[in-house]
Formats: sequence, structure tokens, C-alpha cells
Amino acid sequence: MKSILITGASGFIGSFLVEEGLKKGFETYAGIRGSSSRQYLKDPAIRFIEFDFSSLEKVVATLEDCKRRNIRFSYIIHAAGITKANHKGDFERVNCQNTIHFIEGLRKTGMIPEKFVFLSSLSAFGPGDPKTYKPVMLSDLPRPIELYGKSKLDTEHYICSQNDIPWMIFRPTGVYGPREKDYYVFFKTIGRGIETYIGREKQVLTFIYVKDLVRLIFDALNTEITRKSYFVADGKEYTTEEYAEITKRIMGKKTLRIRFPRWIVKSLAFILENIYAPFGKIPTLNMDKYRIMSSMNWRCEIKPLEDDFNFKAEYDLEKGVKETYTWYKANNWL
Ligand SMILES: NC(=O)c1ccc[n+]([C@@H]2O[C@H](COP(=O)([O-])OP(=O)(O)OC[C@H]3O[C@@H](n4cnc5c(N)ncnc54)[C@H](OP(=O)(O)O)[C@@H]3O)[C@@H](O)[C@H]2O)c1
Repeated sequence: MKSILITGASGFIGSFLVEEGLKKGFETYAGIRGSSSRQYLKDPAIRFIEFDFSSLEKVVATLEDCKRRNIRFSYIIHAAGITKANHKGDFERVNCQNTIHFIEGLRKTGMIPEKFVFLSSLSAFGPGDPKTYKPVMLSDLPRPIELYGKSKLDTEHYICSQNDIPWMIFRPTGVYGPREKDYYVFFKTIGRGIETYIGREKQVLTFIYVKDLVRLIFDALNTEITRKSYFVADGKEYTTEEYAEITKRIMGKKTLRIRFPRWIVKSLAFILENIYAPFGKIPTLNMDKYRIMSSMNWRCEIKPLEDDFNFKAEYDLEKGVKETYTWYKANNWL
């Protein structure tokens, strides 16, 4: 039986990856922290391993313990990471340094798997050209516009330079679905009857429903392909207004549209960031957030997914939002 380790298993994407691992008949190991919630990891077939990636020594100790217990991983999906941080250095420490410790530890203990999948992000490349609206291509020069994306890109650079690691890198655009907490805020805002925008320019968004992403990753494990990276999106694109229209229709809500001029949001983000700076902290509205919210083109190239994995998303936004909304309602999130 093949085995799989999923790090970040307690998170949104990780918990779906664990479910798929079990469904596919893998011996499935959930890599979590001592403090991680097991709310979505209730299946008794899940085997837990507590990882502390903060030092190479700690990773090695955990992997040595796995070896003693005859645990080997055919595949590893490294989904542990942060998309938000309180302190500027956290992105680099958690997303990049921890991944380096993990990979060095795998090498040191002779535990390198048949495939090591790293969950990066479209943010590692940054948005596309706001004038031409051309999609970001694999051949483009990466231009992350914020610390999160930069930390993912730094991690990618490290991984790609490791000749003995059979890596694959997936760079999803915004992932949404049940259990997700960022798009959830948008649902809540619409629920309150408010629809907010920054500026008047057309903003093009892309999405991937969590179940499509997870299916794609498992299909990729099943191929001979390694040492390749891919952007992941559902192949459709939506303006911010279309996204709101779909969500409103499904939620049965009418809203008041409020448009903030860019300069107001930018100034506020700048001021807040400077107030928090002496404490080494990052406010919720910060310059990185502003850059993301005010980037007009989040299209990306996905043809390689079709070519290599015959990938076709089963969920468009309408279907995905419907399922997500139903879950939020059923779980009293809305
Ligand atoms: N959601 C998206 O739209 C999106 C898009 C592109 C890429 N990604 C990437 O996909 C991955 C999963 O994202 P997600 O949306 O599922 O995020 P999430 O729900 O916040 O889950 C993050 C997971 O990482 C773990 N983690 C955080 N800090 C850690 C640390 N210092 N050591 C060990 N584990 C740690 C968390 O463990 P705890 O539960 O213990 O905190 C959790 O299991 C991330 O790498 C993210 O960058 C996400």
C-alpha cells in the first residue's frame, strides 16, 4: 500500500487532501502541530504525526522516530504554510525556512519520497499585466508584490535547486470551498448587504474550488512527471462584479455597492502599517493587502494542466459557491 504524508493537514486545503488520501486507499499520515485543531480530521484511519519544522534537529528527530516505527512516505504533500502573518519575518520563517528544514531532514534521514509536492501560490509570480490583461505565463519572470508571495518564491528557488528531490510545485490562484475562512469574509459582507470595491478599473479574478485542486494533485502523483511547476485555476475568469453577482444570487441577497477610491485605501494601509511598524506587527489592512486588492489581473496559464494531467475543473464559480454557501449555512457559519 502506498503511503502519503500531508503537512498542514489541519488546515483548509490540508484537510481535504487527507480525505482524498483516505478515499484513494493510501496509508494517510496527517502532519500537524501539537496545537493544531483536529476538527476536520476525525476519520479513525488517519495516522497523526506531530511535526515541529522550526529546526532541522527537530525535523530529524521526528523522521528518525518514523523510521524506528517503520513508517515511510511514498509521497509528501507539503501544505503547511501561512498566508497571513502578525510579524513581517513570519512569512520567510514559516513558508521558506521551515520547508528547507523539512527537506534537509528528509535527506539526512534517507526519507526522500517518490514525490514531494509543494503548495506554492500564484502570488509567487504576482499578478499579470493590468493593461493587456494577459495571463501570467510559466515562462514569465516571477514578480511577487508582497512578502507572502516572495516567501513562496524563495522556497521554490530552494526546492528547484535540489537535484535529488523529485519535486512538483503547484501555484493555485485563490482556493475556495467549505471550511475556508478568507472568502468566507466576503460571504459575510454580502450577507450584511454590503458590496465593497476599490477604484473603478476592471479587476479580473480567477478561482479554483478546493475539490478540483485536490483531485488534480492526486492525479499528478499518479504520473511519472517530476520537477515541473504549474499554475492552478478553474479555467474561467470573473470580474469582481461578476463574482459578487454570483454570490448575491446564490445567497438571495441585495446589496449596497460602496466604491472606495484607491488613494483612500492606500493611504489608510500606509498609515496603519506605520503605526504598527515600531511593534514589528502587521495590521489587517496593510500595503501588501492593498497591492493584492488593487491588482487588476489575476489570470494565469493553465494549459499545461490540461496537457499533462488532462485536467478539467468540475466546478465553476456558480457550482462552487453554491456548495460552499450550503456548507457555511449547514455549519452555522452564516
Ligand atoms: N487558500 C488559498 O487560497 C491558497 C492559495 C494558494 C496557495 N495556498 C497554500 O496552500 C497551503 C494551505 O493553505 P490553506 O488555505 O489550507 O491554509 P490554512 O487553512 O491556514 O492552513 C495552513 C496549515 O498550515 C499549518 N501551519 C501554519 N503554520 C505552521 C507552522 N509554523 N508549522 C507547521 N504547520 C503550520 C497550519 O497548522 P495549524 O492548524 O496548527 O495552524 C494549517 O494546518 C499554504 O501553504 C498556502 O500558502 C493557499
